[in-house]
Amino acid sequence: MKFVLNKKDGVRVTPIFENENYNSELLSYTKEKELFSGKLKEVYCHLPFDGQKEILLGFGNKDDLSEDKVREIFFKLIKKLVENKEYEVAIELPKVEKILTSDFVKALVEGSLHATYKFDKYKSDKKEFPEITINISTEELLPTLEEDIKEAEDIMKSIFFARDLVNERAEYLYPETLANIAKEKLSPLGVEVEIYDEKQCEELGLKGLLAVGRSSVRKPRFIVMKYLNNKQSEEVIGLVGKGVTYDTGGYSLKPTANSMDTMYCDMGGAGTVIGTMNLVATRKLKTNVIAIVGACENTVSGSSYKPGDIISTLSGKTIEVLNTDAEGRITLADSVYYATEKLKVSKVIDLATLTGACLVALGEFYTGAITNNEKFYNELSVAAKEAGERVWQLPVDDSFRELNKSSVADVKNTGGRLGGTITAGLFIENFVANDVPWVHLDIAGTAYLSGPEKYLPKGATGVHVKTLYNLLNKN
Ligand code: BES
Ligand code: MG
Ligand code: ZN
Repeated sequence: MKFVLNKKDGVRVTPIFENENYNSELLSYTKEKELFSGKLKEVYCHLPFDGQKEILLGFGNKDDLSEDKVREIFFKLIKKLVENKEYEVAIELPKVEKILTSDFVKALVEGSLHATYKFDKYKSDKKEFPEITINISTEELLPTLEEDIKEAEDIMKSIFFARDLVNERAEYLYPETLANIAKEKLSPLGVEVEIYDEKQCEELGLKGLLAVGRSSVRKPRFIVMKYLNNKQSEEVIGLVGKGVTYDTGGYSLKPTANSMDTMYCDMGGAGTVIGTMNLVATRKLKTNVIAIVGACENTVSGSSYKPGDIISTLSGKTIEVLNTDAEGRITLADSVYYATEKLKVSKVIDLATLTGACLVALGEFYTGAITNNEKFYNELSVAAKEAGERVWQLPVDDSFRELNKSSVADVKNTGGRLGGTITAGLFIENFVANDVPWVHLDIAGTAYLSGPEKYLPKGATGVHVKTLYNLLNKN
């Protein structure tokens, strides 16, 4: 897709607010016939083969317009263009203060590009997405417009990279290949990528990651990605992504239908942090960030860990394993401790497809959040809002912490069914060293929005790559 400034070729796309008056015969006609009145996301196509082609695009109520809505409007427009085989349009941005901003134009680009995403590499009859040209003109041309478009394009490229990782299947994407992809993509951008194999993980003492990972012939990898580009600042943000490349549940086996079959997405957190590193390095942000992924597969074999096992971790704390399907928190325990104690990051965010309970509580639309530091959470929350990505904070207190206590080990790996997202998050809290400000994001629901079939443009711009980018951009 191409975005071109100040060209007016192609099908004329006319933005219409529902409560405004326009001098347009076409609009009078569609209103009278009740075909189109400018309501949000309405699209009316007038495409005669021998005359002026025009598309009316519903912008809804002027006062309610937001970037989120702009993404949805343009997502819908692109789908319509493809349906009608029209591949060049010209749009004049209306003279509304809100609209003539960088953020609006970025949302336009994002929404349009989102409509082009597909994951069809395994289909024999795949079709190329047609090349579409969007000509944009405004009465007052913003000086930054060109750069805004470029930035939005870069953001979308990294989001698609993250979505591709999430959608890729476990047959191809396993710890070793995930680590290699991260290295191949990120090293040329100046990110230092260290990969530790199973033996080196043993030397590091990553006993939690190894306990889960030893079940599989696809051996674990510990991936550390460093982008240090602000010498003036001591602050280093740690990003930890759950990287379970497939989760069968282990001996606490998951049922197949509607449960295990989507578990190739259980490295959604890893996809996000690798995608974010790609973006941060592409955009050369002046910031310091270290991303960590403990990648492994949770499968069933003679060497799998078992319910009832008591295992140790990098921190020395012991875990009673009551359910081998609560594996994510065990792997995260080591990664988060490594980030906060060994690498001494100043703040840490972990992202994980951690609990089915989060899906039950918040659906596929909201990420569940837990924190030990309200100020840090608020910064993240602002960044998420600006990204149009939805995050909801959950309550924490000692009543929940009690549920993770074990009579035979320091903690147990499930706090029961009730409040499952909260106890899972608080389990990780035990492995945050030095009281470092920490936010935990459970993306079990929102990771699904990365899937091509289920994708909704609203609030799902790539499992928080943009949230993290916004946050790091302010650093
Ligand atoms: N990867 C799953 C969580 C999940 C569920 C992600 C659905 C995406 C969609 C996680 O490892 C898991 O199995 N969690 C268990 C925890 C329970 C055993 C305490 C769960 O949610 O059932
Ligand atoms: Mg599991
Ligand atoms: Zn899992």
